[in-house]
Amino acid sequence: MAEQVTIGRIGEYVDQVVSIKGWLYNRRDKGRLQFLLVRDGTGTIQAVAFKRDLEPAAWEAAAQVTQESSLVVTGIVRADDRAPGGYELGITDLEIVQMAGEYPIALKSHGVDFLMENRHLWLRAPSQWAVLRVRATVIRAVRNWLDDHDFMLVDAPILTPAACEGTTTLFETEYFGEKAYLSQSGQLYNEAAMEAFGKVYCFGPAFRAEKSKTRRHLIEFWMVEPEMAYVDLEGCMEVEEQLVAHIAQEVLAHCRPELEILERDVSKLEAITAPFPRISYDDALKILAEAGEPLDWGEDFGAPHETVLGNHFDRPVFVHRYPAQCKAFYMAEDPVDPKLSLSVDLLAPEGYGEIIGGGQRAHDLALLERRIAEHKLPQEAFAWYLDLRRYGSVPHSGFGLGIERTVAWMCGVHHIRETIPFPRTMGRIYP
Ligand code: 4AD
Ligand code: MG
Repeated sequence: MAEQVTIGRIGEYVDQVVSIKGWLYNRRDKGRLQFLLVRDGTGTIQAVAFKRDLEPAAWEAAAQVTQESSLVVTGIVRADDRAPGGYELGITDLEIVQMAGEYPIALKSHGVDFLMENRHLWLRAPSQWAVLRVRATVIRAVRNWLDDHDFMLVDAPILTPAACEGTTTLFETEYFGEKAYLSQSGQLYNEAAMEAFGKVYCFGPAFRAEKSKTRRHLIEFWMVEPEMAYVDLEGCMEVEEQLVAHIAQEVLAHCRPELEILERDVSKLEAITAPFPRISYDDALKILAEAGEPLDWGEDFGAPHETVLGNHFDRPVFVHRYPAQCKAFYMAEDPVDPKLSLSVDLLAPEGYGEIIGGGQRAHDLALLERRIAEHKLPQEAFAWYLDLRRYGSVPHSGFGLGIERTVAWMCGVHHIRETIPFPRTMGRIYP
């Protein structure tokens, strides 16, 4: 019996006979010779069947196996520079596990609607394989960095009694006769955990009923949210830039084949090193005006503004101190100018826009009560949150990093719908 191995580790088995359990991605039929591109989830390898080397039944199987059939191929591993990936399998046996019917995603280009309708199958395509492998690497990098820097994971609830990020994008549901909402952010619960554990993070899905069909918006997305006691706005930016630089380094270190499939310009990722430039909202307005994309003071950036600002720098840029009026209720006031908030967004280059939102939180009870009233939020639902300012309130900061926008930027893919296995967008909840 040949040893069963994965394509990802095939280099450890040169000149040995091994078995690979996988699927047929593609084939070239040359009569007495079949070139089968076999994938197993960890990679793809060219497997070559010579009629004279195989038993008749195995040869028949090799000559007839269809695209995306599941199969087990056995053969000898050869190092070959000309082969894609550097190795080739000389087939000695082949067994079909299930012969696939005509595969809907033929090897030609399809429209994105068709591909999304077949998302359950499209996941197997090399580009999607590569993007989702980068996603797994980004998530691993985030968690490892936070765990290694003494942040404690504290899970936040998904069903919540109140809004965190404004009431216009809430998903409402019924909760035993009361109203409940799908979480927009774990932040408020994180702030309670911060007073219990110091440095914490939550990582989970967030839901926003955004009526915007842009390439940067999903209805359901994943966010990692660190929260830190006794950390101010400047300290918050330092953590953000270290985390983001670490993500880029890990993607460069572990995802070379994936970046190659995606034809990603890796020099763009190599440029992501701390420190990142820091500009104020007021500075940003000047850059926007000069670039012919003017914005009135007090307005929040739209996609075109984020694109201009992101492209102005070769690495991500912090924009801090937005007018309080365009930010959430929980932002701290700038002591120098109370019209400003101690907020900060991190904007990615290359048109990927805001990937992090956060800043220093209001830790004064009176200010927070005033803000909740100004934002017309229900006081009762926030009673527990206000307790955090009554019992041991401290200056603190935190932020939320959107996983999908980060993955889109790492991969250089245009639309974030490809960066999550099963995207939820305004027009689609199937499959
Ligand atoms: O700026 P946002 O709304 O910040 C918060 O939710 C804070 N409560 C986080 C915190 O301080 N703990 O969202 C944070 C990030 C954005 O920068 C963006 O990357 C991502 O979450 N994001 C989205 N990603 C995809 N689709 C959407 N609809 C998104 N909305 C926000
Ligand atoms: Mg934001």
